[in-house]
Amino acid sequence: MRQLMPPPDSPDTAVDDDRLAELYAAGTTEAARWLRVNMVSTLDGAAMGADGRSGSISSDSDKSVFQTLRAWSDVVLIGAETARVERYTRLSHEHGRADVRRPGGPLLAIVSATGRVDVDRLFSADGGQPLLLTCRTADPDAVREFSARAGDDAVLIAGDTAVDLPTAVDELTARGLTRILSEGGPHLLGGLLAADLVDELDLTIGLEARGGEAGRIVQGVRLDTRFAAHTLLGAGDSLIGRWLVSRPESPDGSGRR
Ligand SMILES: NC(=O)c1ccc[n+]([C@@H]2O[C@H](COP(=O)([O-])OP(=O)(O)OC[C@H]3O[C@@H](n4cnc5c(N)ncnc54)[C@H](OP(=O)(O)O)[C@@H]3O)[C@@H](O)[C@H]2O)c1
Repeated sequence: MRQLMPPPDSPDTAVDDDRLAELYAAGTTEAARWLRVNMVSTLDGAAMGADGRSGSISSDSDKSVFQTLRAWSDVVLIGAETARVERYTRLSHEHGRADVRRPGGPLLAIVSATGRVDVDRLFSADGGQPLLLTCRTADPDAVREFSARAGDDAVLIAGDTAVDLPTAVDELTARGLTRILSEGGPHLLGGLLAADLVDELDLTIGLEARGGEAGRIVQGVRLDTRFAAHTLLGAGDSLIGRWLVSRPESPDGSGRR
């Protein structure tokens, strides 16, 4: 992997795991909360492969960034469909480099209007307490099943028929989970962008076209969100970028609130 942008100070442009961690930590510690979204797409814009999952369009360099971002995070936020399709289990304590990660590793927080997650699968691996971010019209049996396994304080209710994302994110922050990483999917990303909760999009573009009917990385809402390039890395299989949401009104124009 090589650093393309900004041009590195030294002639050595190679990016190893330590350099990758440095590049992805830069600028995130000054804010009281930082929410980034990590997504992968093909060069022709597909957010999933023919099997309906994102793993089949991922690459070795994408996996390195994925692990680096998990190491940085206090909580991994995902939509319930991603939890179902990508067969998420709660996150193991091993996720993330020991020297930088949250003690115990990141928690997993699932956003769901129905409250329906596969609790058996979730608990089929060791890990920290998973959280369910849901709303008042959720299926009461599903919510009861979740809290019976994860604990009453693992269920956060925000909103009536959908999760009020600003309230849910504030609740995570109030629990000290201030480094928030969303791993998608496209509908959750649309909701987070529409609510102006995203500080940064981390996008790996695989150097391939797959055609087909697959959706894009954002779905469900119309947006007019602008980004500014922060870092661009190149690998044999991917182009990897950190894109900050542009908030020209922010004090230093950096996008930081
Ligand atoms: N390319 C990538 O980087 C990437 C990343 C992640 C996922 N994916 C792919 O994306 C596909 C799934 O797409 P998707 O857009 O359906 O995934 P998603 O956004 O993860 O899940 C949508 C579901 O999340 C819940 N949800 C999201 N926002 C909500 C809100 N504000 N309030 C209440 N519930 C909310 C709902 O769950 P309920 O139905 O339970 O109410 C909704 O049906 C899969 O094929 C997956 O592999 C790709």
